[in-house]
Amino acid sequence: MNLPSKVKIVDVGPRDGLQNEKTQVPAAVKIELVHRLQDAGLTEIEVTSFVSPKWVPQMADAAEVMAGITRKPGVRYSVLTPNMKGFEAALLSRPDEIVVFAAASEAFSQRNINCSIAESIERFRPVAEAARANNIYVRGAISCAVGCPYEGEIAPERVAMVARLLKEIGVQHIGVADTIGVGTPVKVERAMEAALQHYGVDDISGHFHDTYGQALGNTLVSLQMGIWQYDTSSAGLGGCPYAKGATGNVATEDVVYMLQGMGIDTGIDLDKLIDAGKFISDYLDRKPNSRAATALLNKRAG
Ligand code: HMG
Ligand code: MG
Repeated sequence: MNLPSKVKIVDVGPRDGLQNEKTQVPAAVKIELVHRLQDAGLTEIEVTSFVSPKWVPQMADAAEVMAGITRKPGVRYSVLTPNMKGFEAALLSRPDEIVVFAAASEAFSQRNINCSIAESIERFRPVAEAARANNIYVRGAISCAVGCPYEGEIAPERVAMVARLLKEIGVQHIGVADTIGVGTPVKVERAMEAALQHYGVDDISGHFHDTYGQALGNTLVSLQMGIWQYDTSSAGLGGCPYAKGATGNVATEDVVYMLQGMGIDTGIDLDKLIDAGKFISDYLDRKPNSRAATALLNKRAG
């Protein structure tokens, strides 16, 4: 097997993980989660979204959360910005990276950001330009890269098309996202191949929700293709408010456990990571949605 020797994990728990929570999580708890993640060795944290509070009320405290973080040198903090209004608000928070989020499905684009794919690209164009003029890195997400809750299976050509459009407007890195976790390894491989038509292997990441328990398999197949960057969520928190029934991203703990077992360096302290996941799970009054965390917590207790 030809595998990368190092993997970069972006913990999206504070954003993707919490955005779907019905009860408002206080900014102080979100900030504490970010602090615990950086203490565990995460160097990339997706903190929040500058989106409409009417659409995603949980992210209404974006500025407060960003302002409350004690920044750790070497850690990069990213935020979602769907349009110029979001970017202008985000800019005051000095993110290292912004994320524009497109979809490979027209129906999902409409439900999630209230416009067509083509319109979304036109909204992202000035965002990408302004970000780059301010020395902020620009990442793009391609939602529903293998399946859509409204359109069903998505052809790899759709992923290639959106990747091309994002490339044309200056997006520097793309995440291939299985928003509803329906992907299986061969389908994910095809979606990655489509993305690779427009971006190099160093500029693509995997973003796998684990609804059907396929995310580790999808991560492994992507690793074998040389993809070495992944979005994961501590304690497996999350889901997208516009993708009903979809559960969280693959748990950071599960991915780190797998990578460590394969001798792949992540720079993350698994014990501290488990504590971070336990912290937020305790706050939400539920068990961590991670097999590795559950097993290791049981081992600690016993
Ligand atoms: P819209 O209603 O079409 O926007 O929403 P609009 O431009 O017509 O404005 C309507 C109102 O929203 C106005 O306020 C604007 O000021 C306000 P009003 O005059 O009615 O009081 N507004 C904003 N407020 C704050 N921040 C902003 C902003 N923009 C407009 N940035 C919009 C369009 C994109 C804003 C809306 O659809 C939205 O916020 N969508 C966000 C949806 C979202 O956050 N989804 C979850 C994240 S994506 C995801 O989870 C997938 C991912 O994880 C990858 C994967 O798994 O697939 C990334
Ligand atoms: Mg997601």
